[in-house]
Amino acid sequence: MTALLELRNFCLTLETPDGPLDVLRDIDFSINKGEIVGVVGESGAGKSTLANAILMLLPPRAVARGSMLFNGRDLHALSPREQRALRGNGIAAVFQDPFTAFNPVIPIGKQLVEFQHWRRDLDEETRWRKAHDMLSRVGLTDPGTRMWQYPRQLSGGVRQRVGIAAALLTDPMLLIADEPTTALDATTEAQIIELLREVRLMVDGAIVFVTHDLGLVSSFCDRVAVMYAGELLEVAPVDSGFSALRHPYSQALLACDPSQMSPGDRHFPTIAGQVPDLRAPRKGCVFAPRCGMSDDDCRHQTPPLRQVAANGLIRCAKVAA
Ligand SMILES: Nc1ncnc2c1ncn2[C@@H]1O[C@H](COP(=O)(O)OP(=O)(O)OP(=O)(O)O)[C@@H](O)[C@H]1O
Ligand code: SF4
Ligand SMILES: [Mg+2]
Repeated sequence: MTALLELRNFCLTLETPDGPLDVLRDIDFSINKGEIVGVVGESGAGKSTLANAILMLLPPRAVARGSMLFNGRDLHALSPREQRALRGNGIAAVFQDPFTAFNPVIPIGKQLVEFQHWRRDLDEETRWRKAHDMLSRVGLTDPGTRMWQYPRQLSGGVRQRVGIAAALLTDPMLLIADEPTTALDATTEAQIIELLREVRLMVDGAIVFVTHDLGLVSSFCDRVAVMYAGELLEVAPVDSGFSALRHPYSQALLACDPSQMSPGDRHFPTIAGQVPDLRAPRKGCVFAPRCGMSDDDCRHQTPPLRQVAANGLIRCAKVAA
């Protein structure tokens, strides 16, 4: 398979009022054309930060190190103009609230036309027709009326469909979806997931799907990437029981997954201990304070992220290759 996105020792440090914060550390990982990668981990693990870094949306004064190659071009070495061009034509996003990118006082059709501004080969009428057709492709009835509606007139599910239409209009090679269904009720969520399955066939590239829902990962993704405290701890192929996940943290996440609980369970399991403070200097394995298998070596030596099997990676000194 061809790597569409390749991260090598990618690190990101944010400038905060309390000093520098290492929010992503030594991420080494490739995403291949044609695959869907689920990114999971507890709150604060760095999932959205990674998603935003791929979208080249960094807070002011953030410092990226290492490399992030998209089709061989280092995204964080590009000029802001080149980055904007790539976001309009190459890498697109679907967020939890899709309308952060929409103007509340302009009809959505006009905005969908504007999102195609990089298509200088198309006149306005063609762009309007493409937007109209895309609304229909994402399952909206009466797209002609929708085109003239304002964002506030749309329900959450319709908004998310419009958000997905906006992303698809850019013909992305890489689609980043950060918790696209979290804000929706269960029925609408199921419909949007169904739509995303269809989107998979429309995107001639790869999808990065950030979620807390392991059930969704097992039904939707080809590989899963497990993040913890800004680090990538494991990457493994997905099957229904996540049998390839072997890292102690991945095991703990699975044990706490509501979809793995039997109906009679009253106790909602959690992972004991706290997520580490990212300001503290890194020493040893980042999961050691919460890991039942940790020993002195784990606490003093940072395990490398090593290759296991053909497309798996693990950062643990104790799990055999
Ligand atoms: N602009 C920022 N300034 C300071 N700290 C930040 C900023 N953005 C993210 N962080 C910190 O980086 C860490 C990772 O945050 P991030 O939002 O990426 O986590 P997440 O895995 O997406 O969590 P969630 O599941 O809750 O969405 C957190 O400790 C967060 O507080
Ligand atoms: S390196 Fe040690 S502490 Fe870290 S996950 Fe593996 S066994 Fe646990
Ligand atoms: Mg997030």
